[in-house]
Amino acid sequence: MTAAAVEARGLRRAFGSVSVLEGVDLTIAPGSVHALLGSNGAGKTTLIRILATLIRADAGTALVAGHDVRTAAAEVRAAISLTGQFTAVDDILTGRENLAFVARLRHLADPGAEADRLLARFALTEAGNRRAGTYSGGMRRRLDIAMSLIGDPAVIFLDEPTTGLDPQARLEVWAAVRELAASGTTVLLTTQALDEAEQLADRISILHHGRIIVDGSLAELKRLLPPATVEYVEKQPSLEEIFFAVTGENPTTEREAAA
Ligand SMILES: Nc1ncnc2c1ncn2[C@@H]1O[C@H](COP(=O)(O)OP(=O)(O)O)[C@@H](O)[C@H]1O
Ligand SMILES: [Mg+2]
Repeated sequence: MTAAAVEARGLRRAFGSVSVLEGVDLTIAPGSVHALLGSNGAGKTTLIRILATLIRADAGTALVAGHDVRTAAAEVRAAISLTGQFTAVDDILTGRENLAFVARLRHLADPGAEADRLLARFALTEAGNRRAGTYSGGMRRRLDIAMSLIGDPAVIFLDEPTTGLDPQARLEVWAAVRELAASGTTVLLTTQALDEAEQLADRISILHHGRIIVDGSLAELKRLLPPATVEYVEKQPSLEEIFFAVTGENPTTEREAAA
């Protein structure tokens, strides 16, 4: 039996009088890619920050890589990496120097070799000796993901890794996430994009009004809605249709109401 990579029970967190998380339960299997799907302001970053020991929950428990975020924060931090929308990439340094810098911080024996290995893995070898400031959005995000892998963290948190990227860059980041998944790293990624969860995740949790209201594989989520039969063609519900069905929100009526 392998322990869960993340095991959260009853997490609650408020900011002042605003209650953001109202009892979040989340289990993530080791080696899986788990998408936390939620609208802007749903509390995705708050949950990630609790799991990464950056802020504390008001109530509830969470184990990450087997360590309690409250009582063993140092062990949790040693086992994880976190990348967000705003990257840790230094524009003045080349891609290779960025990687080697982190490798030195983590006391790796051969930082240059680690940098070259990661440049190759994330298709950045040709750009490796250029300043990161000249990189496209997708290249920067790939470099950031590569940097977060140094030291082999057991669990990697990607907080909205493709928000703000153009479609091409988005595909590049998807390839990088698939590369992580293939190597067996546990990934928790947050996203507002239904297609992203559909494309990348083994399991999907939907965070809505402070709770995980649905959790399952894409196939399980699709079973929540019966397929609509049109003429002779069976149409499977899209994740988007499931999302709006379970959250009770209809994008069309909301747009109309706003108009
Ligand atoms: N440090 C903070 N102080 C006050 N309110 C916060 C703070 N961090 C987040 N919030 C509020 O909590 C809610 C959830 O935010 P967040 O976790 O960033 O959502 P998401 O990442 O899903 O967009 C939002 O209403 C946000 O304004
Ligand atoms: Mg966020």
